[in-house]
Amino acid sequence: MLLIRFFGGKGGVGKTTLAAAYALGRAGAGERTLVVSTDPAHSLGDVLATPLSGQPREVAPLLWAAEISGEEQARRRVAEITEDARHAVPREVLPAVERHLARAADSPGTVESALLDRLTGLVEEVGARWDRLVVDSAPTGHMVRLLSLPALLTPWIEGLARQRERARGADRLLAGMLGGERERPDPLLDRLHARRDRLEWLRARLRDDALVHLVLVPEQLPLAETLRAAEALEGGGLRLGRTVVNRVVPDDETGVLARRREHQERVLAELAGRFSGTGLVRVPLLPDALTGAGELGELARRLGEL
Ligand SMILES: Nc1ncnc2c1ncn2[C@@H]1O[C@H](COP(=O)(O)OP(=O)(O)O)[C@@H](O)[C@H]1O
Ligand SMILES: [Mg+2]
Repeated sequence: MLLIRFFGGKGGVGKTTLAAAYALGRAGAGERTLVVSTDPAHSLGDVLATPLSGQPREVAPLLWAAEISGEEQARRRVAEITEDARHAVPREVLPAVERHLARAADSPGTVESALLDRLTGLVEEVGARWDRLVVDSAPTGHMVRLLSLPALLTPWIEGLARQRERARGADRLLAGMLGGERERPDPLLDRLHARRDRLEWLRARLRDDALVHLVLVPEQLPLAETLRAAEALEGGGLRLGRTVVNRVVPDDETGVLARRREHQERVLAELAGRFSGTGLVRVPLLPDALTGAGELGELARRLGEL
């Protein structure tokens, strides 16, 4: 069962609209569905025509929505680590460590991995609190990086844990020579191990249970970006679901739109070749504003189960 779906692609191609419509469709089919936006430029609330926060809120029958952010999570996590450091490092160096941690809270890497942490928390609830999780992702580069983080961070954390273990080994030896002190707990080491295990768990869960739907409009630049993203995601062990080609110009158009169609046909042919395994869904260019449950209903029917 592929209960977790990511919608990714270039800015402006329709990720938020399609993620919201898909989530609405799954809720309509009787699944307890959570849709979350991880794009710092949140617009999920606008598309659903209701204000959202970091905590899931029921916005339609069986549909919950949230806009999650790495910053908030990063501040909470740094506070925890600072607390651990108070017990683990000598008092003289504590102010320097605290200054370092405060700076780390704002660094891009911290914010990103904190966002991943929050997402992991939600993934943990899939199958229990939620039947389905739909993620409206940040534009391609960010999404690919976020989804690659579990694989990137695990060896790094293992390296840190090994260093820490070596240091403790030396401490123990010294303590033994000085007459045997009892083993002291090491919250930092415990936390490093817990973090590694959690990332490993997320990686396996996403591999088994998630599909990434790349969204694009049928033009050359989005096509190039989509092909690169597909490579990167599959290389990182993620599975691609059906690719969504949005804003396809219908056959009976005239004028400028008719000329666009020639270009569009070339892009569609190339997509059909590359994604013959996963399949394509075409969504036409629609005249409506596409906000609120009523307008999204037609899109939801088109997407079906994806
Ligand atoms: N099939 C479509 N037909 C017409 N307009 C669309 C379609 N899909 C999306 N849009 C519009 O395109 C704009 C960008 O969509 P959005 O979902 O915010 O993109 P993204 O999340 O990828 O940045 C929005 O104004 C949305 O209403
Ligand atoms: Mg968006």
